[in-house]
Amino acid sequence: MKIVTTLPELRSARRILPEPVGFVPTMGTLHAGHISLVQAARAECASVAASIFVNPTQFGPTEDLARYPRDLPRDLALLEAAGVDLVWTPTPEVMYPSDFQTWVEVEGLTRPLEGELRPGHFRGVTTVVAKLFNAVGPDKAYFGQKDAQQAAVIRRMTKDLDFPIEIVVCPTLREADGLAMSSRNTYLNPDERQAATVLFRALSAAKSAYDSGERDAEKLRALVRDTVNAEPLARLQYVSCADDDTLEELTQVTGKALLSMAVYVGKTRLIDNFVMG
Ligand code: PAJ
Repeated sequence: MKIVTTLPELRSARRILPEPVGFVPTMGTLHAGHISLVQAARAECASVAASIFVNPTQFGPTEDLARYPRDLPRDLALLEAAGVDLVWTPTPEVMYPSDFQTWVEVEGLTRPLEGELRPGHFRGVTTVVAKLFNAVGPDKAYFGQKDAQQAAVIRRMTKDLDFPIEIVVCPTLREADGLAMSSRNTYLNPDERQAATVLFRALSAAKSAYDSGERDAEKLRALVRDTVNAEPLARLQYVSCADDDTLEELTQVTGKALLSMAVYVGKTRLIDNFVMG
C-alpha cells in the first residue's frame, strides 16, 4: 500500500494504478462502515484508492473540528488489511494554501435538513470532494447511505460538473444494537451510548408503521418525535420525511421517500435515516 501526502507523489502513484480505480474518501478514525465502502470498491475495481483528510471547511465555527478523533497509524493498518492500494493523506496546507479562494456549491439540494442547520457545511464537502476527485481521478467513488443528503449532493455535483465518475452509495453499517457506525460515536459515554440506540428505535417504529401501510408523512415523523422525546438523554433536532430525489418535505408518501433525523445525545450530534419505497 502506497501512502502519499503531496500532489506530485499522488499523481505519479495514480498513473501506474490498474483501472478501473475505485475511490473511498474519508475523514479517518475508520470503522467497519468505512471498510465496507473499501470492500465494495475492492469487489468492483482493479485498484482502490482512499483518502484520509479531516476537512476543516466543512466544520462550522462551533463544531467539533479541534476534537474530531484522529488515529492515522490505526487507519493505515485497517486500510492495508482491507486491500487498499493507494492512500492520499494531504495536509490542510496542501488542500487549502493561504491564497485559496475557489468554492464548489450545490444550490437547491443543500438548502434543507443538514444544510439548513449546518450553514456552509455542504460547500466545504463539495469543495473538498471536487478537489479529491480532481487529484485522484477515480472511475468510481463510494459513499455511505448514512449521510444520505451528502450522497445526494455529491451525485448532483458530479453530474453538474461532468466528472466522469460513477457514484456508488452503500448501505449503512450498524452496531449489533442498531446504532449506525460513526466516528462521532467515540464521544459517547456509556450512558449516552445506551441512549443513542434511540435513533434506531425511532426509525424502526416509523419503518414498521410504514410496512403496515402508514403513508401519512406527519404520522411517521410523529412516531420518531415521540420515541426520541421519551429518551431523557436525547434531544431531537429535526425529523424529516422527504422526497428521496428533491429532499422536499412530503405530506403523503407515494414514491421513494427518505425518513431522516438529527439527534443530540448529550453534546454529541448523531444522524440516521432509512429509505422507504
Ligand atoms: P466520513 O464521516 O469519514 O465518512 C466517509 C464515508 O463513510 C462517507 O461516505 C460516509 O457516508 C461513510 N460512512 C460513515 N458511516 C457509515 C456507516 N455506518 N455505514 C456505511 N458508510 C458509512 O463523510 C465524510 O467523511 C466527509 O464528509 C467526506 C465525504 C470524506 C468529505 O470530507
